[in-house]
Amino acid sequence: MTIPERALNDGTKLPSIGFGTYQLDGDEGFAAVRSAIESGYRLLDTAYSYENEHQVAEAVRQSGVPREEIVVASKLTGRFHGYEETLVGFEESRKNLGFDYVDSFLIHWPMPRVGKFVDSWRAMIRLRDDGLIRSIGVCNFTEEHLTMIINETGVVPAVNQIELHPHFPQSAMRAFHAEHGIQTQSWSPLARQRDAVDNPVIVGVAEAHGVTPAQAVLRWQVQLGSIPLPKSSTAARQLENLDVFGFELTEAEVAAISALESGRLWGGDPNTNEEF
Ligand SMILES: NC(=O)c1ccc[n+]([C@@H]2O[C@H](COP(=O)([O-])OP(=O)(O)OC[C@H]3O[C@@H](n4cnc5c(N)ncnc54)[C@H](OP(=O)(O)O)[C@@H]3O)[C@@H](O)[C@H]2O)c1
Repeated sequence: MTIPERALNDGTKLPSIGFGTYQLDGDEGFAAVRSAIESGYRLLDTAYSYENEHQVAEAVRQSGVPREEIVVASKLTGRFHGYEETLVGFEESRKNLGFDYVDSFLIHWPMPRVGKFVDSWRAMIRLRDDGLIRSIGVCNFTEEHLTMIINETGVVPAVNQIELHPHFPQSAMRAFHAEHGIQTQSWSPLARQRDAVDNPVIVGVAEAHGVTPAQAVLRWQVQLGSIPLPKSSTAARQLENLDVFGFELTEAEVAAISALESGRLWGGDPNTNEEF
């Protein structure tokens, strides 16, 4: 299966869809990531806090796919906010992964109360300039947080990974990203199944194209210009979720799914959520 790519503002590229690995840990997690790579995923989303960086990297090493053909993204967790701390936190992730360099490294949450994400961003820029990270970005940053790091450093993140699903289409953030050349990535793109795969509007769109509701949602994500990162522990669903490039939703269908907006589903408010 050929997956189209998206060009980022730093000259690197990402597949138009990636694989989420939250809660895929231990031997089962390793097996799920192996099978995702076999299915064709070439962007794998892990994080220091998922405690599975080692399993994800090991699945890459054992896959037989050349290392440079797979993008592994990991994330800096809260306890490492600050300049020196970020250098340490990155090294922890790099050691867990066992890689010489990390393809994509993101600040996991801005945690504005702690007030150190600009210092962390400066350290990320240094790590990129030293060749240890290919592409740097953030997650869960609001317009205000993005504006701060851009104004302070002049470096625009390549991606901002945000909660985005039919209940929370994030139109304002997507517009801000488009204006600044930041690639949107969607976490929980299937809303963790919460009234997404069985919603009648989505089921109707899916039936019109002879696809599954999850495929309709992921296609909607692609047509919004985002890179969705669906997680699945089963090989059949991993394949299903990748197979979204052979049909196209109409503008009306895209709008109908976006109209399901009801707001954020979990407590992940970027202004207050903290994870250490
Ligand atoms: N940056 C952040 O702050 C942040 C926060 C949350 C998540 N993330 C990232 O985003 C990734 C995805 O988010 P997520 O894991 O929260 O949720 P998700 O991908 O929206 O949903 C995963 C759930 O949907 C099910 N599923 C997968 N494919 C399906 C299909 N085709 N039909 C029906 N159900 C299906 C999975 O079940 P099975 O496994 O049983 O198939 C699982 O229960 C994470 O894994 C993580 O990498 C990032």
